[in-house]
Amino acid sequence: MSENTYYGDYLGLSQLLSCQHPRSVSVGRPAHDEMLFIITHQTYELWFRQILHELHSVLGILQQKIVPDNQMGQAVSRLERICEIQQVMIQQIQILETMRPLDFLDFRDLLVPASGFQSFQFRLIEIMLGLPGQQRIKYHEHAYYESLSEEHKQIILDAEKMPSLFNAVEAWLERTPFLRFDDFDFWQTYHEAVEAMFAQDRERIEHNPLLSEKDQAFRQRQLSNTMAAFELLFDTERYETLRSSGERRLSHRATQAALLIMLYRERPILHMPYRLLNTLVQIDELLTTWRYRHALMVQRMIGAKQGTGGSMGYNYLIKTLDAHRIFGDFTQLTTFLIPRSALPELPEHIDQRLGFAYGSTP
Ligand code: HEM
Repeated sequence: MSENTYYGDYLGLSQLLSCQHPRSVSVGRPAHDEMLFIITHQTYELWFRQILHELHSVLGILQQKIVPDNQMGQAVSRLERICEIQQVMIQQIQILETMRPLDFLDFRDLLVPASGFQSFQFRLIEIMLGLPGQQRIKYHEHAYYESLSEEHKQIILDAEKMPSLFNAVEAWLERTPFLRFDDFDFWQTYHEAVEAMFAQDRERIEHNPLLSEKDQAFRQRQLSNTMAAFELLFDTERYETLRSSGERRLSHRATQAALLIMLYRERPILHMPYRLLNTLVQIDELLTTWRYRHALMVQRMIGAKQGTGGSMGYNYLIKTLDAHRIFGDFTQLTTFLIPRSALPELPEHIDQRLGFAYGSTP
């Protein structure tokens, strides 16, 4: 620390430490645990701020027409940092749970109508990651931002108009140059490999002497169901219908690119893109885990009571788990992974281009 920098000034400690004002104290019935309640929420808001800081920079990187290799590494590291923060956010719930339901009731009435539901930074994180407004569960038949102050509402409405991480990654995937090089057409090659794999599976069932006729019929039906999921993927028109009904979100071209990255992720040039996709899936999972842990805590604290923000409390929160998933399309891509043994070998000249250049020339 330089001579003129003082620890407390640098961190703005006098402001930071003068922001805890328990309502219970000001109304003359001090409740010991309200301090923990305030500090826990403030800590979350600080972590939200850090997450937003990371998201801004990652979006800046991924929105470039060409993302330089070193910056891609940086974007992935920053997203991985978000995951670490999310782990802390999940654990932090345990500290708040040392406040018992009766301790909470000592001051809960003083909070109405305030609620975490009004955390505009939490909403910004959801929006920047890519949760679209129309996917949100209706809350009192009002838009979720109606419970915010005018200032926060404006910030949220502006953010909704900006491209999200989902949009940026989708556009980046659509630009991938690897889907077709020279004589190699990934989608066609993959389609052929899938058909060959299913033909083999069917044959294995038909010629398995250990299976009864009934078992064989059952397994063939199961196989047909899996094949139907793949057929949907290969039928661009039907895929687009699913997209317009909201069942799928990722564009068909971006889906192809994401699958290529997942299937050939061991090729050096695809390592980093694979880490990026994997980290998005992890961020989504950790956000869902936080939502679940928060919902359980809420159930433990207030049972089936209404929330201070006026929602149906636990019942509302538990519905957001599935409805507010953001990168679900990426998670579900594992349905379409095929075993390494069935994966087509890449032509040698392409394999070389996906490797590290040095030392690979004869
Ligand atoms: C005693 C502890 C807590 C209780 C009983 C509680 C209760 C609730 C309830 C019932 C809701 C639904 C909205 C409503 O009707 O109010 C909610 C939403 C929310 N709470 Fe909490 N909460 C607690 C702690 C926290 C903490 C520590 C945070 C951290 C910032 C937080 C963040 C949120 C967020 C972001 C939402 C909106 C979730 C969504 O709409 O998906 N809560 N909370």
